[in-house]
Amino acid sequence: MDFDRSIKIAPSILSADFADFGREIRAVEDQGADWVHVDVMDGHFVPNITFGPPAVAAFRKHVRTVMDVHLMIAPVDPYIDAFARAGADIITAHVEAGPHIHRTLQAIRGAGARAGVALNPGTPAESVEHLLDLADLVCVMTVNPGFGGQKFIDMTDKVRRLRAMIGDRPVHIEIDGGVDPTTAPALARAGADVLVAGSAVFRGGSVSNSAPYGENIAAIRAAAEGALG
Ligand code: DX5
Ligand code: ZN
Repeated sequence: MDFDRSIKIAPSILSADFADFGREIRAVEDQGADWVHVDVMDGHFVPNITFGPPAVAAFRKHVRTVMDVHLMIAPVDPYIDAFARAGADIITAHVEAGPHIHRTLQAIRGAGARAGVALNPGTPAESVEHLLDLADLVCVMTVNPGFGGQKFIDMTDKVRRLRAMIGDRPVHIEIDGGVDPTTAPALARAGADVLVAGSAVFRGGSVSNSAPYGENIAAIRAAAEGALG
């Protein structure tokens, strides 16, 4: 997994058919997805429950690109090894999930995965300032985590600040929540390179009719790349 700042589209399988994850993952990858985003929720840190390490291990068999695992769970440290063993390429933990995010990022790298740190909309960019040498990715939430299909919250200014803080470090800026062709351009211009999208990728398509997935991915990519000029 080499580092670059090209635009990457990461469909969130939270918007996929939950009875058919394998085919959904293969469909979005065939249709141009760069990464596959997996949202893990615990009904405690966020008010929704999705899947645990055995499910993520099952997804792994179908992912040929990059499996990007977003942990919306607290506590997070006791589960890092299990998600690393499940085959996550990137494990992202929330800065709000506990008092020791520095230790959490060390543990993620120690388990052999790339380390991501996510910020809720109410959390300032400065909260990760002292973590940037320990992180491979900063995830800026543009919705309050817990559900797909929510209204976008503008965090362009936060992205711009993070981009300046990151400087030359090989750290991705990922956006998660409400990304579509209308919201992507300003985020790309501000410095985001990984765009997670659930509803805006899966809408209009299905495993037996996956061309809309490709059109949706291409539309988000074109909007973001167009903004970079
Ligand atoms: C929200 C999740 C997101 C979600 C995005 O808690 O972290 O990844 O699936 O869904 P959309 O793109 O529909 O806002
Ligand atoms: Zn997510």
